[in-house]
Amino acid sequence: MKDLELNIRRVSTHKESLSCAELMAGSEPWITLGMDRDHVVNIFNDPLNEVFAAYIGEALVGTMVIQTKGAFTGYLKSIVVKPDRRGQKLGEKMMAFIEKEIFATCANLFLCVSSFNREAQRFYQRLGYEKIGVLKNYLVDGHDEILMRKTIAPILEKTGNSPSESVPED
Ligand SMILES: CC(C)(COP(=O)(O)OP(=O)(O)OC[C@H]1O[C@@H](n2cnc3c(N)ncnc32)[C@H](O)[C@@H]1OP(=O)(O)O)[C@@H](O)C(=O)NCCC(=O)NCCS
Repeated sequence: MKDLELNIRRVSTHKESLSCAELMAGSEPWITLGMDRDHVVNIFNDPLNEVFAAYIGEALVGTMVIQTKGAFTGYLKSIVVKPDRRGQKLGEKMMAFIEKEIFATCANLFLCVSSFNREAQRFYQRLGYEKIGVLKNYLVDGHDEILMRKTIAPILEKTGNSPSESVPED
């Protein structure tokens, strides 16, 4: 299959932000977690977060949210690929992009994945993420969040990194 040309950039307009929020809110795991579009827009508008959109040509095919500021940095809050584009390695390419962003300044990349989201757990494991803990009934009652980490070095051995890097509070 021909390699797909993926273009990833920061979300810059309200219209783009709404399209990304619709993509996320219309997909699992956010449906089960009860996060509607307005909830997602609030996450996007949080100044601690950065939102990226992935395009093939003019078509929006995915979106990602990372936390790059505040007490807990280096945290991938969410990634989603448009349902009809899944299984084409776009998610893998988006993760490579985000790892480049985060590992430029942080030694660790943390993320949470819902206990019922087995496909995503497999996806992250294949990319080198390790399960480091279970947050019981973290977002909603009856479902846990699994905290995962990928690391490139111990914090104190990564040049320019702050020893204040820590685990998430939310
Ligand atoms: C998880 C996700 C981002 C991966 O992106 P992707 O482009 O489908 O992934 P890739 O093609 O790079 O990698 C293939 C993996 O995706 C999953 N996958 C493959 N085809 C799929 C499909 N048609 N539908 C759903 N997932 C599929 C599989 O787990 C596969 O892993 P495997 O090869 O070990 O079986 C994407 O499936 C998605 O958006 N899922 C819904 C949202 C989600 O769960 N996000 C993560 C929680 S924060």
